[in-house]
This record gives sequence, structure tokens and C-alpha cells, in this order.
Amino acid sequence: MRSTSISLDAQCHGPHSSHVTTNPIVELQRDADWSVEDALALYMIDRWGTGYFGVGGNGDMTVAPLQENGIAIPIIDVLREAKAMNLDAPLLIRFQDLLRHRVETLNNAFNSAISEHHYRGSYRGVFPIKVNQLREVVEEILDAGKPFNYGLEVGSKPEIFAGLAMHGDPESLIVCNGYKDPTFIRMAMLGRKLDKKIILIAEKLSEIRAIARIAAEMNVEPWIGIRVRLLSKGKGKWATSGGEHAKFGLSTSEILEAIEILREAKMESAFKLLHFHIGSQIPDIFTIKRAVREAAMYYAKLHKMGHPLEYLDVGGGLAIDYDGSRSEFHSSMNYTLEEYASDIVYNIMDVCDDEKVPHPNIVSESGRAIVAHHSVLVIQAFGAIEKTPLEPRAIRATDHKLVREILEIDKSLSEDNVNEAWHDLQQIKEQAQTMFEYGLLDLDVKARVEALFWEIAERMQSVIGGMDPGEVPEDLRTLKIELADQHICNFSVFQSLLDHWALGQLFPIVPIHRLNERPQLESTLVDITCDSDGKVSKYIDLNDVRETLPLHDLRPDEPYYLGIFLTGAYQDIMGDIHNLFGRVNEVHVFLDPDEESGFYIEEEIPGQSIGEVLAMTQYDWRDLEKRMKSQIDAAIKADRMRPTEGMRLLQDYERGLKDQTYLNFDRP
Ligand SMILES: Cc1ncc(COP(=O)(O)O)c(C=O)c1O
Repeated sequence: MRSTSISLDAQCHGPHSSHVTTNPIVELQRDADWSVEDALALYMIDRWGTGYFGVGGNGDMTVAPLQENGIAIPIIDVLREAKAMNLDAPLLIRFQDLLRHRVETLNNAFNSAISEHHYRGSYRGVFPIKVNQLREVVEEILDAGKPFNYGLEVGSKPEIFAGLAMHGDPESLIVCNGYKDPTFIRMAMLGRKLDKKIILIAEKLSEIRAIARIAAEMNVEPWIGIRVRLLSKGKGKWATSGGEHAKFGLSTSEILEAIEILREAKMESAFKLLHFHIGSQIPDIFTIKRAVREAAMYYAKLHKMGHPLEYLDVGGGLAIDYDGSRSEFHSSMNYTLEEYASDIVYNIMDVCDDEKVPHPNIVSESGRAIVAHHSVLVIQAFGAIEKTPLEPRAIRATDHKLVREILEIDKSLSEDNVNEAWHDLQQIKEQAQTMFEYGLLDLDVKARVEALFWEIAERMQSVIGGMDPGEVPEDLRTLKIELADQHICNFSVFQSLLDHWALGQLFPIVPIHRLNERPQLESTLVDITCDSDGKVSKYIDLNDVRETLPLHDLRPDEPYYLGIFLTGAYQDIMGDIHNLFGRVNEVHVFLDPDEESGFYIEEEIPGQSIGEVLAMTQYDWRDLEKRMKSQIDAAIKADRMRPTEGMRLLQDYERGLKDQTYLNFDRP
């Protein structure tokens, strides 16, 4: 394994200071002809940023929540303002105006497509609250969606309890997906009693029977939808939501049986909606078109059988171009939001016109496309794991044979022999390891061999950097990855970036300042959990996936911040409390032309305290304090501690329980 030295700089030098990394390969790249345009291109900000993200002339990354129709805010300014409120990184920043902009963009896209194609139904979108249940997010979305009668989708009992109370527009829908028990169904019937357009989507036959029974008991007319299990299947990481073996939905014969059950219950007219969902983040538009046509055909045939359904619900799946490659790669999409809306409208219309049935109202359940852009997670890189400091190179007669051999390799290194030199270098390192294991090598020689190994490996990387990529020997192609440094960042992948850990989903990551400086290092990010999986190991790239991220060196006394973008969908809620880190600090930002900065922070939500996360695992802070007190009392009694010292330490413990869980370098 590569020999490393860890500089936990904040611990060594006080707040925000850090060891300056010196990496000879990249040191060469410091030059004057770097501009913010180069940063935009390197991090592909103008590709995945969709007009929301950019870089100011001073190298600070900006957010324009209304795209070209509003101002751009430097993210670092928001961080500064949050810090003044005692909320440091890791900090989740929500741009509420951006959220509104997404709701408007989606609704406008469907409404434009409807008028362009002369479609004779309307669009009634719903926001699936599982994608981000936070009250302020849901409230903002509902408020922005009022002019469009934009509704909600719920998928569980807690979600229906929230959805029922938050929903106020009688024209907008509440669509209820997921498996249901009598309480869930009763809540939906309560909604019907309040004249809400609340539709229970049957995921299996027994639910139809239960809905019919409970509706009759409560003397209310239910609105029922059926989820059809299409043969069309999604592509990408969430493809198993569709296809014959999907967990949810009814097959063709079950749909016919469901209709029979409704007929027997004299509730045929309750069947209002046909629904499908073939998965989230569908990267390829052809998959969507195919599924829409298949579902439209079900709708048309059911209509012709005498079931005048009012709605066709195309589910979720509208993707986000996380890597900006505009391709059918799993973290991308080969279509635009406008193309998505137009294709759905056109294909439903085409099938319905061919089959001579009326155009249904179109429902879509886009979650990711509404919320992904609005939140940015800012994290601080506070230290680096880097190679062993360089050794003097001169060959000395007293040097160990292995050291002399390794220095000989260095002396004769060239493009022509780089492959052979690499093999020799590896052999010497292995030999050193074997000798060490047999007790034949002292620690100082081992340390020197390892340090020289990495130093020469870096020289080899410089040599192959000058070669035609096709000429680089196979064995040396991954050397750059092995040489990468690691930036240690104050956050938890398990809390804030779960889909990266679990599914390898990519998120754009960019320094939020210093973008007017060329990044000198190739690095990877590791988090502060005690888990080797707690790292970001894959980064966006236009053609492929990058294993390393270009970053700047850490400077003493200057914190280095990175933004993780497009994290607003799913990550907040799915995050877990591995290592008991819990929720991060959060601020909600609104644009305001009356403010000098152009924005203000309306809401501050401090991250969880140590006491709070401990309570989630059944620890009671009073009990913990009591136990500590009795141990300190015993130590005082046994003269192992003076009483004043004991009381001060007890206070430290009690105060500490109220502290936040993430690292804080501002305390001495
Ligand atoms: C039934 C249903 N509707 C909507 C969504 C939201 O999908 P997306 O975030 O891709 O828009 C999901 C998520 O998988 C879902 O299961």
C-alpha cells in the first residue's frame, strides 16, 4: 500500500490552518493563463448547471435561482452570513426561489406542449413528497404551484397525514401510491369528504376490495386509480420499478378483475385514473416514449370498454443531467425537460387520436426534476492525506542496496523505459516489504524506500503525461489514480450523499471559491466517518467517470470549501446517522432586491446536537450526565481529581452534549 502521512491540520495549527501540499506533478501546472472560463469548462458547470450555477470574475461560484431573470448570489456569501448566525459547514443551503422556478418551468413546459399540439386535456402535476418531505420545501412548491393547480403525491401513512393537511387547492390532485392499510384508506376518504380530488392508486387487487368496503362504510364516493404493470422497462439505476417483475402494479388480467370488483360494488364510476411508473432518473427519452405509448393504449382500450377515465398518470422518471454529458448514461439524460413534456403530450394524443378516444388529463409525478437543483451542500476540506515528504536524492555509499537501486531507476528514467522502470520500482518495493516482514529491514530504510517509491512514481506520471495517450503502457494507465491525494472533509457520505454510497450515483462537486486559480492537485474526498466506504470515489466527466477531482492545495489559515450540487432530491431524507453525525446545519435563502447582498436567510435550522442524536439511540442525556457525575465524584473521593477540576470537567461534558456532532475547529 501507498505510504501516507496524515495531516489533520486543524488539530495541529488551530482553526482552518493546514499543511500545504506539494505535489510535483501538478505544481508545474500553476500558470498565469488560467481564467474562470477554464474553471467553468473543467467542472462542466455550464453543462450540468442549467443556467442556475456559474462563476463570478473573482472565482466565487454563484447561484442564479431565476436563471437569467434574476441575480447571481456567490455561495460563499451565503456561507459567511450563515457563519455569522453560528451555522458553519457542513451547511445545506436551500434556494427557495429556485424551487419555485422549477415548479413554474415544469408546468409551463406541459402547458406550452398542450397548446402547441392542440391537446384537448389539461396538465395536473403532483409533487411526490417522498423526494423531499421537508415542510418548507412542500409549502414552497404548493405555493408556487397554485396558478397551475399543482398537487401532491403521497406514498405512505405519514405522508398522507402531512399531505392532507398541507393541501388546500380543491382543484389540485392528491395521488396516493404505495401499499395501503385501512387507516391509510380512511384518511383518503376523509379527503373525499372534504371534496378533495384525492385518488387512491391500487397497487394490488385486495386494495380495491378494501377501498370499496371502507368507502361504503363511510358513505363516500372514492376516487380510484390503477397502477398498470407495463412491459416497458426503464433503464438506469432505478429500472426495477417497471417491467413484468415490478414490485407494484396490476397485470392486464388483474386490471380486468379489478373492474369486476368495482362493478359488483357499484363503484365503476370511481375508476378515474390509470397510472404507471417505470423508475426514477430515466436517462433515455426512447424508454419514456415507449412506456407512454403502451400506457396510452391501455387507457384507450379501457375507455372503449366503457370506462371513461379522466386522468393518465405517467409517474416520475424525468431525469437530471448530473454529469452534464447529455447522454443516456445513468447519471445523465439525453433529452430536455421541454422535450419530455412535448413527447408525453404528443404520444398520448397520437395514440388517443388513432383509437378515437378523448384526450385524458395528464398527471406527472416528477420529484427529482423539481427539487434536485435547489439545495447545495457546502463542506470544508480541513486536511489532506498525502505522500511521505520527499527525501534527498543523492546516492550515498552507505545507503541500503534497495535504496541505491531505486535511485538508479530514477537516474535513468525516460519515455522509452518507463514501463520497465515501473516494474522494477514495484519489485523493489515488494522486496522491501518481504525483508521487513522477515525482520531484515530497519524502519528507516523501509520509510526511505516507500518515500522514494512515490516520489519516482510521480516523476513517471509526469513522463507519461507528456506522451501520446495511446502510447501510455497499460500498466501505468491507473497510476494517476494511485497518486491522488485525499482531501478530508467535515461531512458524512452516509448522511448527505447516500445515493453515491449505495448506488454510485454521481453528483457535481466543485470548490465554491478560488476558481480563478488553476487547481493544482488530483484528489479524492474522504469523510469523517470511521468507515472506509465514507468517501466520494467517482466524479462526473463528460465522456466517462473520473476517479479523481481537480482541487486546490490547502492553505494555512484559509478554509477551503467545496459545494456538492444537485442534492435536493432524496439525499436529505434517506441519509442515516452512521457514526451518529445526524443532520447538518441548514439555511433557507430568499432573493430580495432590497437587501444589499440581494438575498436574506429566512430560516436557520441548526444541525442535530450530540444529545439529540444520542436520544435517537435510546440514551437519555440526564441519565448520561448522572452517570458521569457519579464517576467524577468517585474520582474526587479517591483523590484522583481535585473537586474544582472535577466540576469543570463535568460542565464540559454537559455543555458538550448540546454541541453539534460535526467537527468544530473554532473552539480552542
Ligand atoms: C410512484 C412514484 N412516483 C414518482 C416518483 C418520483 O420519481 P422522480 O423523482 O424520478 O421524478 C417515484 C420515485 O421513484 C415513484 O416511485
